[in-house]
Amino acid sequence: MAAEARRTSVTGFVAINTIQCRPDYCERFECLFCTRAHAIDSAPGFCHMYVLRPSAEGEPYLVVSHWESEDAFRAWVGSPAFHAGHSRAFADLQAAKERGEEPPMSSQFRTYSILTR
Ligand code: HEM
Repeated sequence: MAAEARRTSVTGFVAINTIQCRPDYCERFECLFCTRAHAIDSAPGFCHMYVLRPSAEGEPYLVVSHWESEDAFRAWVGSPAFHAGHSRAFADLQAAKERGEEPPMSSQFRTYSILTR
């Protein structure tokens, strides 16, 4: 395939959530993802996702999700599937708050369009 064609055949939208976990929460965090709800799998416009574990201890995890469009991503964030896919995570945050503890994780997401690959 010519370079030009390869460039134009890659389309989509990527949302990356960067999650910093408290050291004592990392095992639980990985366990949540290894048994995740998969509610996202039937979200319209969802392509695939990766959960990346940092090589260096103490660095954040990355949740990389690939979508057909930004609209598809925004629709998922506003849907019941988002809440179904996060119910245990949000319950852990709420429980820590009620106990007056530091949050076990904090997250920040950024969005990207795909330029090439
Ligand atoms: C307060 C913010 C967030 C936190 C603390 C958080 C943390 C987590 C955790 C721990 C899980 C494992 C599932 C479980 O709850 O059992 C999860 C699922 C997931 N998160 Fe987040 N997340 C947040 C927001 C986001 C955002 C904004 C995105 C997208 C950029 C995202 C992408 C995903 C995806 C794709 C899954 C898998 C859902 C499924 O299997 O249906 N998360 N998240």
